[in-house]
Amino acid sequence: MTLITGASGGIGADLARVFAREGHDLALVARGADKLALLADEIEATGRRRPLLLPLDLTSPGSTGALAAGLGAANAVPDILVNNAGFGLIGDVAQLNPAEQLAIVDLNIRSLVEITLRFLPSIRAARGKILNVASIAAFFPGGPGMTVYYASKAFVLSYSLGLAQELRKDSVVVSALCPGATPSGFQERAGFGPEVMLDKLPMTSSMVVAQAGYRGLMAGKREIIPGAFNKIGSALLPFFPKSILLTLISRMQQKRL
Ligand SMILES: NC(=O)c1ccc[n+]([C@@H]2O[C@H](COP(=O)([O-])OP(=O)(O)OC[C@H]3O[C@@H](n4cnc5c(N)ncnc54)[C@H](OP(=O)(O)O)[C@@H]3O)[C@@H](O)[C@H]2O)c1
Repeated sequence: MTLITGASGGIGADLARVFAREGHDLALVARGADKLALLADEIEATGRRRPLLLPLDLTSPGSTGALAAGLGAANAVPDILVNNAGFGLIGDVAQLNPAEQLAIVDLNIRSLVEITLRFLPSIRAARGKILNVASIAAFFPGGPGMTVYYASKAFVLSYSLGLAQELRKDSVVVSALCPGATPSGFQERAGFGPEVMLDKLPMTSSMVVAQAGYRGLMAGKREIIPGAFNKIGSALLPFFPKSILLTLISRMQQKRL
């Protein structure tokens, strides 16, 4: 079965819809139990098996153990893992709440690694697959104005590429999905106001991102960049001096309070 984190909305919910449509049985994780239940109703109504729901806060210590216990109680063994749960915050490191910044590290990095390690044995045994949701942010030299978030996504991309190479001999596919700006709950949680120019970039819908993620994972791609604008943009980035990119990102993410 396929385990998807952060499935209560946005890209994760659309990944669940796509995996279900393609015939995968699902286990879905997020904090929002009500939203997970609505999505499970929707998937069940299409004739698919009702997903197993595991409402958990993945930043809580012990959440990976609770996740494993929930799966074990249902005799569910993941052979595909989609690490999608994540969030960012707009603002300078010196101004943002320290605990909230550490929660980004806990969710985007710590929980992703912990869940991967926990289920790696069953994924390797099944010659399964891992899809880690990074971001186009991972290709930038840094993300002033969202510094911790950009650094966390650089980690996710690096971790995924390293793991992909290590697990090649086990026939396990590891892909990093690197979306650009995608309308979802992300912008509100990050605290984007009307002045944040990142919102004005060409957007790719969460369904298009999810479909590209699914296709890329099944094709064994290591990096998946949905949308022509994002593909071309990320290919051009290495040609720009880092100082220019850092200034550009800083301007685009400036939140004038
Ligand atoms: N939207 C973009 O522009 C964009 C671009 C590049 C990459 N991404 C990445 O795409 C992934 C999905 O984000 P999204 O855009 O779909 O945003 P979203 O709509 O806010 O979805 C985030 C998901 O993560 C879950 N989540 C958040 N905190 C959690 C926690 N502590 N424990 C468990 N689950 C938690 C949320 O559910 P609950 O709130 O119910 O817990 C939700 O299901 C993230 O990794 C994000 O960094 C997004």
